[in-house]
Amino acid sequence: MSSSRIQLTDDLSFSRTIPGLMRVRNWDYSPSELLDWIKQCLDMGVTTFDNANIYGGFTAEAAFGEALALEPSLRDKMELVTKCDILFPNEAYPHVYLPHYDTTRDHIIASAERSLRKLQTETIDVLLIHRPDPLMDADEVASAFTALHEAGKVRYFGVSNFLPQHMDLLQSRLDTAIVTNQVEVSVTYLDHIYNGTLDYCQQHRITPMAWSPVGGGRLFTSDDDRSVRLRETMQRIGNNLGGTSIDQVALAWLLQHPSKIAPVLGTGKIERVRAAVEAESLPMTRQQWFEILVASQGHNVP
Ligand SMILES: NC(=O)c1ccc[n+]([C@@H]2O[C@H](COP(=O)([O-])OP(=O)(O)OC[C@H]3O[C@@H](n4cnc5c(N)ncnc54)[C@H](OP(=O)(O)O)[C@@H]3O)[C@@H](O)[C@H]2O)c1
Repeated sequence: MSSSRIQLTDDLSFSRTIPGLMRVRNWDYSPSELLDWIKQCLDMGVTTFDNANIYGGFTAEAAFGEALALEPSLRDKMELVTKCDILFPNEAYPHVYLPHYDTTRDHIIASAERSLRKLQTETIDVLLIHRPDPLMDADEVASAFTALHEAGKVRYFGVSNFLPQHMDLLQSRLDTAIVTNQVEVSVTYLDHIYNGTLDYCQQHRITPMAWSPVGGGRLFTSDDDRSVRLRETMQRIGNNLGGTSIDQVALAWLLQHPSKIAPVLGTGKIERVRAAVEAESLPMTRQQWFEILVASQGHNVP
């Protein structure tokens, strides 16, 4: 069983299943244990890894980089995604006294260069602007992107949590296409299904990455009416699909969307990554998809 590929550009593809490193410090892996986890992912064709400057209190990129440094030849077998622009008080940035966003040219370049050092790599495959910045000057972002690309430090650029108008604004100043928008989408979070963001991605053939694809784990632990309803519905559908688990059904539901969503998993457990890869080939009927939508919304479609 191997993860399928999504072609983002002529020379960049992602694995459909993408592990995220936001929680890596909670996994408590030593560098060699994390390396082993990375290798097991690669063996399943899971080659795209999502990171951000801020994860793990600005230390997650370093955790990945320390593992990669144990076997640097693996770098050519993977795609690295990371993000910039969110800042919050932290010893890595002693001058920062409140959470804010920074999309100035200097900050984007400095943040990308810091990510390169922490990840112990020469190139970031895709650098994302993590959240829309109300003070974003699109010309300035474009200038930073051009400088990073021309220096060979970043291959492609994307965004995260952007609405269509934010993407339009930034794209209007860029020479190259935004290749992804990483947004929250799951059976427990439907906003981007309805607010035009996924439609925009489909229209412009931009690959959406879905963060918290199982609701950050709350899908399994919450006892609110919606979560209970969703678990019951997905358990029943999973049984009908031949005994698949709730997390696999939640992922299969995302994968049915025509915008070709790539889920970004938060699990540190390799067996759950394997289950996600298996979910890529789960069939789901249109009516099963709508059953889950209805369980999430609590009402039928009009
Ligand atoms: N762009 C953004 O703004 C943004 C924001 C948030 C996250 N992200 C990215 O998205 C990634 C995923 O986010 P996430 O961690 O919230 O995603 P998630 O996959 O929805 O949630 C992961 C959590 O759910 C638990 N879990 C998974 N399957 C489970 C199961 N079958 N039963 C019980 N618990 C289960 C995991 O625990 P175990 O480890 O024990 O499996 C983990 O604590 C992050 O790593 C990051 O890369 C991006």
